[in-house]
Amino acid sequence: MRRGKPCRKDTLSFRQVLPRTLVGVLVENDAPLAPLTTLRLGGPARRLVTAHTDDEVIAAVREADAAGEPLLVLGGGSNLVIGDAGFPGTVLRIATEGFVLDGTALEVAAGETWSEVVHRTVLDHDLAGIEFLAGIPGSAGATPVQNVGAYGQEVAQSITEVVAYDRAADEVVTLSNAECAFSYRHSRFKAEPDRYVVLRVRFRLEDNGGLSTPIRYAETARQLGVEQGERVAVAAAWNTVLLLRAGKGMVLDPADHDTWSAGSFFTNPVLTAAQYESFRTRPGTENAPAYPAPEGCTKTSAAWLIDRAGFGKGYGSGPATLSTKHTLALTNRGSATAEDLLVLAREIRDGVREAFGVELVNEPVMVGVAL
Ligand code: EPU
Repeated sequence: MRRGKPCRKDTLSFRQVLPRTLVGVLVENDAPLAPLTTLRLGGPARRLVTAHTDDEVIAAVREADAAGEPLLVLGGGSNLVIGDAGFPGTVLRIATEGFVLDGTALEVAAGETWSEVVHRTVLDHDLAGIEFLAGIPGSAGATPVQNVGAYGQEVAQSITEVVAYDRAADEVVTLSNAECAFSYRHSRFKAEPDRYVVLRVRFRLEDNGGLSTPIRYAETARQLGVEQGERVAVAAAWNTVLLLRAGKGMVLDPADHDTWSAGSFFTNPVLTAAQYESFRTRPGTENAPAYPAPEGCTKTSAAWLIDRAGFGKGYGSGPATLSTKHTLALTNRGSATAEDLLVLAREIRDGVREAFGVELVNEPVMVGVAL
């Protein structure tokens, strides 16, 4: 990966005050991780540390690094597949709090629940910029890592800066939007997964007098009864997204196993011109969704490929199946192990490759397992 410019240090005094010991944080041994993830599967953590302040986060990371201990940072647990053997090191649960709004400049702590951040900006402050990212599970600190996106918005459009602890340099840095190197479901944080721990995320929101950003998605426009490119009341946009997401089982509901998932399990494949041409020679691809992507590429739909390769909604008979509401969500019906889920994921990946010559790539982070 191409390295960006060196990052600006956050404050001059930070280095001196970096905490060195874990005082007062909650530390549990052999702690179950499954209940901390939305898939609700996988083995325990050798050690689970819950940090409530940035200082506690940094101290826990430093302690693990100094001991040469593997470290897994956990936010909302909504984008993780934890292997059945669990994690043989320290799992750091980020439970920091902070929501500071100054005009349209918002700073949130990594541990804040993302859907509540969106809720507050829309319903309490009538601001636009992240209203189409309603109902997405997980923590605010996880959003820059995979450049969370939905319905034509992604956090890369509104993030100004990310404050992170840089484990390689042992200092707190502030990365500009450009330095985050955002692209579709990707960023510098994902490219260098063991380097940064996100502490705070800064956004520039929009005060459009109560109106949303322009509607980019046909599906949301249709639901709202307006044309693409128009704006609606920001709360109406937010509400519509929640309804659409709930209809696809993409809003957490403990009683509904269709939501025991990691959201979209595969990214939408981005095909080069040559790959797309070869894809289109396959029978049945005339109506495949196709969206222009950077550098002459075409993005198609993983859900559509899965469906047309013979894996319809609800596919599977074991404890892990496709959601009955959306083919892109792999779900735990209650007693699934990580292995059950991976067997299903491999079957689908292989079936799509066979039918369409397209290689699906998992979107959630895999811990101790691989597809
Ligand atoms: N489709 C099917 N069968 C299905 C569902 C969908 O064939 O069961 C086809 C339809 O043709 C549909 C197309 O797939 O038009 C795309 O489906 P959808 O509009 O639901 O969006 P998606 O591409 O599957 C993406 C994101 C979601 C995001 C939605 C809405 C990815 C990998 N997924 O899903 O993000 O909420 O768009 O913008 O980019 C996530 O990343 O975890 C996630 C949920």
